[in-house]
Amino acid sequence: MAAALTERGIPLSTISIQYLHTNSTSHTGPFSAIAELIDNAYDPDVNAKQIWIDKTQIKNKDEDIECLTFRDDGNRLSRDLMYQMLSFGISKKKAVNGKLPIGMYGNGFKSGSMRLGKDAIVLSKSKNDLCVGMLSQTYLEKIKAKQIAVPIISFNKQEADKYILLSLSNESTMCS
Ligand SMILES: Nc1ncnc2c1ncn2[C@@H]1O[C@H](COP(=O)(O)OP(=O)(O)OP(=O)(O)O)[C@@H](O)[C@H]1O
Ligand SMILES: [Mg+2]
Repeated sequence: MAAALTERGIPLSTISIQYLHTNSTSHTGPFSAIAELIDNAYDPDVNAKQIWIDKTQIKNKDEDIECLTFRDDGNRLSRDLMYQMLSFGISKKKAVNGKLPIGMYGNGFKSGSMRLGKDAIVLSKSKNDLCVGMLSQTYLEKIKAKQIAVPIISFNKQEADKYILLSLSNESTMCS
């Protein structure tokens, strides 16, 4: 496997897709994994007042798939924050009005969500912005990924029912 190199020719470390599972094994049971997601909603950057946790069943072809949903009414995620959320070891949380953050390692969402399931979809919505990100072991295995790719798409509302799809290359497409 050829390593990506820095400008000075030094190999960059990489994270294999198996690490998503490895990292999740720090949770010996599901409850500490659930706590990671609740902590994130409580933390001052998000500052949610309420969190809803549901379990639903969705049908995929003939298979019944159990789906856990965590929904909160806290601050939204921009595209940059979504990328940070799906990356490892980045945490910029600080105290707000004396409320100290619980999170500090930039890992809890990844370890917690991957302990509860193989795939996580994150949806964020505010008045004018929508953003969707995915951390999916199933997808990465299917595409035989060598590294952890995290698809993210975001939309910006232009007028009633008209959204601009903001792509990675900064080109935009009108959708309705
Ligand atoms: N429910 C949420 N709403 C908005 N942003 C969130 C939410 N959950 C996580 N995030 C964002 O994702 C980032 C990564 O979360 P993660 O739990 O992985 O790390 P952390 O909370 O910073 O540190 P720790 O590993 O100690 O929990 C957070 O710093 C926050 O910016
Ligand atoms: Mg956290």
